[in-house]
Amino acid sequence: MQAVILVGGQGTRLRPLTLTTPKPMMPMMNRPFLEFQVNLCRRHGVEEIILSTAYLPEVFQSHFGDGSRMGVRMVYVTEEEPLDTCGAVKNVERYIRGTFLVFNGDVLTDLDLTNLIAFHREKGGKATLYLTRVEDPTAYGLVPLDRRGRIIEFLEKPSWDQVTTDLINAGTYVLEPELLERVPEGEPYSFERQLFPQLLEDGVPMYGFPSEAYWMDIGTPAKYLQAHYDILRRRLPFRFEGREIKPSVWVGEGTDIHPEAAVFGPTVIGPGCRIEAHATVSSNCVLGPECRIGEGSHLEGAVLHEGCRVDAGCVLRSCVLSRGVRLGERVHVSDRAVLGEGVRVGPDNDLRCGIRVWPGADIPPETLKF
Ligand code: GDD
Ligand code: MG
Repeated sequence: MQAVILVGGQGTRLRPLTLTTPKPMMPMMNRPFLEFQVNLCRRHGVEEIILSTAYLPEVFQSHFGDGSRMGVRMVYVTEEEPLDTCGAVKNVERYIRGTFLVFNGDVLTDLDLTNLIAFHREKGGKATLYLTRVEDPTAYGLVPLDRRGRIIEFLEKPSWDQVTTDLINAGTYVLEPELLERVPEGEPYSFERQLFPQLLEDGVPMYGFPSEAYWMDIGTPAKYLQAHYDILRRRLPFRFEGREIKPSVWVGEGTDIHPEAAVFGPTVIGPGCRIEAHATVSSNCVLGPECRIGEGSHLEGAVLHEGCRVDAGCVLRSCVLSRGVRLGERVHVSDRAVLGEGVRVGPDNDLRCGIRVWPGADIPPETLKF
């Protein structure tokens, strides 16, 4: 089986994190996110993955290379101009040899792909879409089914008055290659707004595969954080790295935790970190490699990428610090605040309410207060 993973989006809803790293390569539990999808594919017998890139393509290639380290064959195809979701697949048509899988590159799931493929073959449709249930379908593609599981409509980003079901497109498809004959070459074309509605209009059989598997689109800061919390709470399988020094507290090599610091699980502290005296790293934290947490600082639900430095007396709650962020003393960061790469915050600032700070910004002492 072959899989095409769509990774060409700009990840605008996750800016400023995605200004320097494409969304599918963002650290998730200290691993590039895409490794989760690659591992899922490999576990279900996918041998070749075609990465459809458009934005910052070199980041993917330099990490995965030919894919052999992950046990798959990796092929890269880069669009000169973004071709949208379906145009992107048309653009890799020359590599497709039979029934194949398509993934949105920003979805975390432990779906049983083997079952999905078997269901597709059993129903004999031209396309099968993995569906999941969400509370607010308006941010997704709405997919009502008839009693036999056939898709009757596809409504991308519906308004509430169009919502007739809580089943949405989970962003994983099994497709027959002949569908691509209908797609124009070299121009933007969308699965969600063009191909799927057109197929339904033409009476082409498409089926939905609703599943209760874990599912999360990591495309906003709140969901990016939630995905970490869910993995920490083992809502989907994950091989934790490092040493489990107490239940659900995983610590990487060379990390130094002061005897008078406190660490509570579930939490992951990467390699080469230093946690100083009276600091507390509480539940739901993930610290990247080489982070330093100063004396008396308190962290809870915080995700820190590589090389962050937090000085004494800081409080971090439900926030994301990108690579190399530096916080002066007594800085508070909370409420889904997101700090871009290399941001420096002077002492006595308070960042909250979903504030987003541009990469490299320098906030002078006592500037942001509530
Ligand atoms: N190669 C390429 N070229 N990839 C693209 C392009 C493009 O021009 N545009 C978007 N992508 C990739 C993105 O990188 C992402 O992995 C995927 O296509 C989906 O794009 P998003 O921007 O994340 O779409 P969405 O989340 O608003 O909606 C989609 O996903 C939902 C589930 O998470 C739709 O498929 C919805 O129907 C679906 O419910
Ligand atoms: Mg998305």
